Amino acid sequence: MNIRLKTEVPGPRSRELMAERQAAVARGPFHVTPVFIARGKGAVLEDVDGNRFIDFAGGLAVLNAGHLPAAAAEAVRRQSRRFLHACFHVTPYEGYVRLCAALNRLAPGDFPKRSFLANSGAEAVENAVKIARSATGRPTVVCFEHAFHGRTYMAMTLTAKEKPYKLGFGPFNPGVVRAPFPYCYRWPATEDPERVSAECFSAFERAVQSVGPEQVAAVIIEPVLGEGGFAPAPAPFLRRLRDYCTGQRIVFIADEVQTGFGRTGELFACARSGVAPDLMTLAKGLGGGMPVSAVVGRAELMDAPMTGGIGGTFGGNPVSCAAALAVVELFETGGLLDRARELSAALPRRLAGLRRFRGVGDVRGLGAMQALELVKDRRSKEPDQEAVAAVIRHCTERGLILMSAGTYGNVIRLLMPLVITDAQLEEGLAVLESGLERFAA
Ligand SMILES: Cc1ncc(COP(=O)(O)O)c(C=O)c1O
Repeated sequence: MNIRLKTEVPGPRSRELMAERQAAVARGPFHVTPVFIARGKGAVLEDVDGNRFIDFAGGLAVLNAGHLPAAAAEAVRRQSRRFLHACFHVTPYEGYVRLCAALNRLAPGDFPKRSFLANSGAEAVENAVKIARSATGRPTVVCFEHAFHGRTYMAMTLTAKEKPYKLGFGPFNPGVVRAPFPYCYRWPATEDPERVSAECFSAFERAVQSVGPEQVAAVIIEPVLGEGGFAPAPAPFLRRLRDYCTGQRIVFIADEVQTGFGRTGELFACARSGVAPDLMTLAKGLGGGMPVSAVVGRAELMDAPMTGGIGGTFGGNPVSCAAALAVVELFETGGLLDRARELSAALPRRLAGLRRFRGVGDVRGLGAMQALELVKDRRSKEPDQEAVAAVIRHCTERGLILMSAGTYGNVIRLLMPLVITDAQLEEGLAVLESGLERFAA
C-alpha cells in the first residue's frame, strides 16, 4: 500500500502554507491540489503533513522517470560540485554538446540533425518558429484548434484556448492561421479516424490556401493534444500533413513537449505514426525535473539563423544537462523505455472498463498518455466540467493526485510516472473508480 493519510486533506500545515501563498503569490498561477509537497519518490509524494499520495499528474507531465530518479539526482549532485552556470555563450561546456548529440541521435528521421537548448517548452516553441521563418524567409505559421504551445507571446498566440490562457493579454502576434484539429470524439458526423483525417486535411488545405502555401513557414502540431484533452491526431492525418509540408517546402514542427520521453510508448509520439518532423520541440520529461528544453531538427534548418541569432543566458544550464543526460540513459539502457512500452500496452486495456460509467463519454489516448472525457449525456456529448472537478477533489481527499485537461475542462488526464509499479497503478485506479462511481455514474 502506498497511500497513507494521517490527517484530513489538506492537512493543517498545508492550510497554513496556503494562507501564506494567498498573501505572497499572485493569483495567476493555478494549483490543482491544495496540498504542499515535502518530498517525492517514484510515483509517490508526501505532503508537509506526512500524508502520502499516489501521483497521477507527474509534475504536469515532467516526471516520466519518477520523482527523484536516482541517476538524475546523482548527476545533479556531481555537476553541482563542479559549476552551476557558465553560460554556453561565454565558455561552452561538454554537457550541452553531449545532450545535443544524444537528441540528434534519438530524434526520428534519417538525416543530419542539430539541436539547440533553452529552458522551457514555450521557449523551445518560440525558437522553432524563429528557425523556420529564418530558414524559409516566409512569415506565416499554421497551428490547430485545441492547441497549447505555452504562455510567451508567440506560443500563446499559437495556443487556442482563450480562457484562461489568453484572456486580457492581447493583441497577439500576426502571421498565424488556425486549422481544425482531427479530434475524433468531437468531429461532426463521424468519429472514424480515416474519415476525420480526410475531412480535417481538406479543411487544413483550405486554411493554407487562404494565405497561399508559399507564404507558410511552418505548421506546428502536437501529435497528441496535451492541455487540449489528450486527443491523438490519427496517423493518416499526420502522414498527409508531413507529405504536404514536404511538397510545399513548409517546415513541419512537432511539439513533443508533453508527448515526448516515453509517454506514448516510444521515445517520441511521432515515431508511432512513422512521421519524422523537420523540427521537434522538447521539454518537460527531458530534464527529469530540472528545467531544460530543446529544438531538434534538420541541420540545414537549424543552421539558418546566423551566429548569435538564437540563444539565451540560461539555456541548456549545465546542471539541467547533467540530469537530462541521465534521463536519456535511463531510457536507452536503464529499461525505462521497456517499462513505458509495457505501461502503454497495459493502461489502455485496463481503462477500457471505465466506459461502464455512463458519464464517461470517451476513453482515449496514445500509449500511456490516456484520458477520460466526461459528459452529461452520451448522445449530446455535453461536457461535464463539474463532474471532473468533483472526481478530482474526491481523489485528492483519498490520496490520489489527478489533473484535468481539455478545451471544456471536462477531461481527466493520466500522467503517472512511467516507473509506477503495477500495485501503485491499481491502488490509484481504484480511487479513481470510486470517484467515477460517485460522480460519473
Ligand atoms: C505541447 C506543449 N507545448 C508547450 C508547452 C509549454 O511548456 P512550458 O510550460 O515548459 O513553457 C506545454 C506545456 O504544457 C505543452 O504541453
